[in-house]
Amino acid sequence: TFVVTENCIKCKYTDCVEVCPVDCFYEGPNFLVIHPDECIDCALCEPECPAEAILSEDELPADQEQYIQINADLAEVWPNIAERKDAPADADEWNGKPGKGKLLAR
Ligand code: SF4
Ligand code: F3S
Repeated sequence: TFVVTENCIKCKYTDCVEVCPVDCFYEGPNFLVIHPDECIDCALCEPECPAEAILSEDELPADQEQYIQINADLAEVWPNIAERKDAPADADEWNGKPGKGKLLAR
């Protein structure tokens, strides 16, 4: 399965959702997640993310492994998103900033 990782936080470009053939993205206040039971591992979303925040669970760096559980948990409670929307106005300023994990809004 593919996993949305920390660099999506406060960037939330949403380019990813448009290409997903099974619409398995779910949206929170400043982050998106992928439902691990719905993702069919097609890999189409990975190159679409301007923040390079989407990775296969097999290639996650150790400090991003916690996002497997975060995606699984939040996909159960957040609403589905299947259409692209405008990113936050300051998205580009947050792209690549370290330590955004603590800013994840639930
Ligand atoms: Fe959707 Fe494919 Fe990305 Fe999984 S890998 S979230 S099925 S686009
Ligand atoms: Fe997040 Fe990248 Fe999608 S920033 S919303 S995973 S395009």
